[in-house]
Amino acid sequence: MAAAVVRAVRVLRGDEWRTAAAPALDADMLIEGDCAEVMRRLPDGGFDLVYADPPFNTGRDVVARTQRVRADPDGERAGFGGRRYRAETVAIRRYGDRHDDYPGFLDARIRRTRELLAPWGTLYLHLDQREAHRAKLMLDGLFGPECFLNEIIWAYDFGGRATRRWPAKHDTILVYVRDPERYHFDTAAVEREPYMAPGLAGPEKAARGKLPTDVWWHTIVPTRGAERTGYPTQKPEGVLRRIVAASSRPGGVCLDPFCGSGTLGVVARRLGRRFVLIDENPEAVAVSAARIARVEDTDAPPPHAPVAT
Ligand SMILES: C[S@@+](CC[C@H](N)C(=O)[O-])C[C@H]1O[C@@H](n2cnc3c(N)ncnc32)[C@H](O)[C@@H]1O
Repeated sequence: MAAAVVRAVRVLRGDEWRTAAAPALDADMLIEGDCAEVMRRLPDGGFDLVYADPPFNTGRDVVARTQRVRADPDGERAGFGGRRYRAETVAIRRYGDRHDDYPGFLDARIRRTRELLAPWGTLYLHLDQREAHRAKLMLDGLFGPECFLNEIIWAYDFGGRATRRWPAKHDTILVYVRDPERYHFDTAAVEREPYMAPGLAGPEKAARGKLPTDVWWHTIVPTRGAERTGYPTQKPEGVLRRIVAASSRPGGVCLDPFCGSGTLGVVARRLGRRFVLIDENPEAVAVSAARIARVEDTDAPPPHAPVAT
């Protein structure tokens, strides 16, 4: 096994990206700024994969509170054996999600991602039921309908239940390729999953598991799970792992223009890919930098190894 290495990440804060030399993609990067502007400086055709998880147009600030619970005889929470506890909010993290013209916001940023993709590259655009239908029409216009690969449904089962409609418990991830004749897609690199009815599949197939379909059942990031950062709308590493494993080459470069807590960077690093992450929120950059610094790329192949296509 290769020795554990922690590769440095080049972090550009404030306006540094405006004055720094144009990024050469020879280092992992984390850039604070509006992705519409930053992406103009990135090299055309440089990326295997763009994973974009923009605000969903909820019309409000998206907020997450991190709480710590400590023993306190006067606390408001009752526990086992009559003990009492008090919950304290130790961090509030937020980003704005109000848009006068959401389609215009999205178009101005996603348009550029197509030019950034290599001929074998793929865009994953992560949205929910509010905007997915409009975005699909937009992407058909930008890429061409022939470049549409999948509509992935990420289904989870968590949180409150609406009673006046079916509770919305899925996100939609639209997948478009730069070139339908040349795109990279490696199903052998994807972790297989258990059959729903293993008895029907037979013992050999059941042991091997099946390839995931376009419907992905996966929990959200658990409230007390190790991967939780407290950044709002953080996506699970398991969902990103499938995307990175299938649609980028070892050593290839992945881009996340709305990186939030840096999930794409963590997964890319673990799988031996390079990355560029962008977010306009300084807090997102701070959370991502701290999170990625803890990831060792133990089994990473040589950086940016060129792969023939
Ligand atoms: C849904 S969150 C991303 C969550 C991320 N995938 C994760 O796993 O943590 C959307 C992010 O987009 C950022 N954002 C919003 N507008 C932006 C813009 N114009 N340029 C860059 N980042 C932006 C927000 O600050 C927020 O962190």
